[in-house]
Amino acid sequence: MLDQLEQLKQEALKEIGAVENLETLNDLRVKYLGKKGPMTEIMKQMGKLSAEERPKVGAIANEVREQLTNAIQEQQDELGAAQIKAQLANETIDVTLPGTAVEAGTGHLLTQVIEEIEDLFIGMGYTIAEGPEVEKDYYNFEALNLPKDHPARDMQDSFYITENTLLRTQTSPVQARVMEKHDFANGPIKIICPGKVYRRDNDDATHSHQFTQIEGLVVDENITLADLKGTLTVLAKKMFGEDRDVRLRPSFFPFTEPSVEMDISCFKCGGEGCRVCKGTGWIEILGSGMVHPNVLEMSGIDSKKYSGFAFGMGPERVAMLKYAVDDIRHLYTNDLRFTNQFSVKE
Ligand code: DAH
Repeated sequence: MLDQLEQLKQEALKEIGAVENLETLNDLRVKYLGKKGPMTEIMKQMGKLSAEERPKVGAIANEVREQLTNAIQEQQDELGAAQIKAQLANETIDVTLPGTAVEAGTGHLLTQVIEEIEDLFIGMGYTIAEGPEVEKDYYNFEALNLPKDHPARDMQDSFYITENTLLRTQTSPVQARVMEKHDFANGPIKIICPGKVYRRDNDDATHSHQFTQIEGLVVDENITLADLKGTLTVLAKKMFGEDRDVRLRPSFFPFTEPSVEMDISCFKCGGEGCRVCKGTGWIEILGSGMVHPNVLEMSGIDSKKYSGFAFGMGPERVAMLKYAVDDIRHLYTNDLRFTNQFSVKE
């Protein structure tokens, strides 16, 4: 029996030492120490031993059981520790790996141009005014000296919603809205108004049924055409370069008298004549003029005491000229191959 115990011990220790995972180890525990295992079997046979032998063999059997139990426990501790170690190694976060970059968007080219112009005027003490895109006929036309049936209304084909409301064809109605509310006790009027406008046009490379405008209006005592020219010269140089010249050409708008159109010397050829300026050396940039006395009066401003200038320009035109964009639709169709060329990383 002692030999049997010794053999069992040798075999079991060998097997336990070779185990590589916790499940197999548990199987061995059941195999050697379980109720149906050889240890139980040996204990059962102890009854057959003589009274002298019994305690000796019993002590050795207990010793073997204890040795096996300890061996299993040790192996279990070792395998458990190895398992945790492997798991930790697996789940380690490598803090030196590059992170997932969050791509920040940037303003659209048109937004960039509008914001650049806004910044310039804010720097000169202007505030930004806004008005509705669904506008009353009164503000879009009548208050701007374009009574019903005035032939100049044809210059701007309109989307009418009702007889008296339409999608504004220009940002000029904001002039009338600002003037009728203004109190000169708070200082002069100095506003710009960027916004969307709509015209019943067929879309092509240079026309769009929806586009943007920036309106400007200054009203105070003693405002003259010289103030207009000075202001617009600053604008031209800021947007198209310091060495730009400016010229004013007589024009017609119902809401200004006199009316002028402003040209800048061609930024491409410097005035010699090229494709951009169509050989003239000059590029038309915007319409403007001195606010018509009728317009001032209709909005409740004394035209004997106050005078003003106004201008209206198209940011699309500025963007297209500045960046040689050959089709206005590029500004609206959001083809990323186009828009990404103008992304500015801040
Ligand atoms: N509203 C005009 C247009 O859409 C542009 C314009 C011209 C605005 C002269 C003005 C101005 O304020 O004085 O064609």
